[in-house]
Amino acid sequence: MLTITQERKDDYWEVEALYDLCFAPGRTALSSYRLRDGVNPIAPLCFLARDADGTLAGVIRNWPVQVGGKLAVLLGPVAVHPTRQGEGLGALLMREAINKAEELGWERVLLVGDLPYYSRFGFYRLKGVKMPPPTNPDRILGYELVDDAWENLRGEVLRAPDCNPDGTPQMKVHGR
Ligand SMILES: CC(C)(COP(=O)(O)OP(=O)(O)OC[C@H]1O[C@@H](n2cnc3c(N)ncnc32)[C@H](O)[C@@H]1OP(=O)(O)O)[C@@H](O)C(=O)NCCC(=O)NCCS
Repeated sequence: MLTITQERKDDYWEVEALYDLCFAPGRTALSSYRLRDGVNPIAPLCFLARDADGTLAGVIRNWPVQVGGKLAVLLGPVAVHPTRQGEGLGALLMREAINKAEELGWERVLLVGDLPYYSRFGFYRLKGVKMPPPTNPDRILGYELVDDAWENLRGEVLRAPDCNPDGTPQMKVHGR
């Protein structure tokens, strides 16, 4: 049996350890991490999947970012323990985060990742949206939580203010 819960403060280092295990060394040097510097994750969108014995099997964290003066959820990192990959856990965590983001009133989701994996959730390549370099433009993907949420949105992805404590989008958006 698997339990999905929101990440708590005490889980922080265990989650970091799973990211270290699942990603190449130096993951925090990736350009997407520059958008997370000094910004709190959206707490209600950060989930853990644990086995019945409490072993951490998968995690997802999400941050607010802004593009063209509009807010978006920067989805990920998502990681599943190597011994548990291919069982649908990644998909479960993605859907949990996407559904909760929609419930909280977020309008769009952005991520940097492999289209062949993320297209199954409805993500598509965003043209004209630029991540801090060096990022392969083919890996900049978007998803709409409301119709046409990415329509005509162009430009650089910037850091965003912390969201509200309840995880809803912060309305005051300005350059950071
Ligand atoms: C990517 C990851 C989160 C997927 O989690 P998971 O629980 O293994 O995924 P699911 O069980 O939901 O889906 C498995 C399917 O996705 C496919 N898949 C996994 N990673 C993929 C990738 N990078 N590109 C294309 N397909 C991928 C598998 O081949 C499998 O395909 P199938 O359904 O046709 O058999 C997990 O493999 C992982 O932690 N990888 C290392 C960290 C990472 O790369 N994170 C993503 C950052 S962009």
